[in-house]
Amino acid sequence: MPHRPAKKPQNPVAARLGRQIRSLPGRMRELPGRADELKAEWQADFEEFSADIKAKVADDIRFLKTWVDKPMQMGAVTPSSPALAARMAAFVDPARPGMVVELGPGTGVVTKALLDRGVPPERLASIEYSADFCTLLRHRFPGIHVVHGDAYAIRRTLGRLGEAPLAAVVSGLPLLTRPPAQRIHLLEEALAMMPPGAPFVQFSYSLVPPVPPGAGDYSIERSNWVVMNLPPARVWVYRRGR
Ligand SMILES: C[S@@+](CC[C@H](N)C(=O)[O-])C[C@H]1O[C@@H](n2cnc3c(N)ncnc32)[C@H](O)[C@@H]1O
Repeated sequence: MPHRPAKKPQNPVAARLGRQIRSLPGRMRELPGRADELKAEWQADFEEFSADIKAKVADDIRFLKTWVDKPMQMGAVTPSSPALAARMAAFVDPARPGMVVELGPGTGVVTKALLDRGVPPERLASIEYSADFCTLLRHRFPGIHVVHGDAYAIRRTLGRLGEAPLAAVVSGLPLLTRPPAQRIHLLEEALAMMPPGAPFVQFSYSLVPPVPPGAGDYSIERSNWVVMNLPPARVWVYRRGR
């Protein structure tokens, strides 16, 4: 008997595409009757898309203006990309009890990623120095705790929100604009507010960790480069103990 090669299992996406293509002639015949409905659908999609673009451009302009006024406070000319924000949020376990504290939320890209990750709004506290960004964040993310203040004094600034052990700290601060002693102090104070194993998550554009190894009792993990960010960045995760 001649050998017949086994039939290759079909890729599910290719199978779905095939079904859609085969159904096209039938759907084309329905088109004239559905013209108004389709036009309304396309218009709604287009309006949603242009609203997203307008919001993104408005955020970029806000960011750039703040950077022109306070370059050392901002440390970047545009907000982080959603890809970088999602990579940072992936290190947070929403099932771990306690508040998740965000440092330097800016226009809220990482805030959104943390909420998308499943952190409940009432368990998210975002500390921001700029009063304008605080107003924007309160409007954009109802239910989260927006704290106007200095993230480098994390314990004092959080007050009662920082009394119970924290689940995670996620920082968008431009740490490298501060001297090493201040960076180490912030990291140690934040780690002391968390149980062992809970992460302090920080992004940077640098080759070396923004808080150097060996300066305290913490371990460092780093992500691959996130190239879907301009400039490419990586995520550093600090935990208590070596
Ligand atoms: C590089 S931006 C990051 C913004 C946002 N997380 C992102 O990734 O797009 C730094 C943010 O930290 C804020 N910031 C800088 N120093 C701060 C401080 N001492 N306390 C609180 N926020 C601060 C800035 O106002 C700015 O919003």
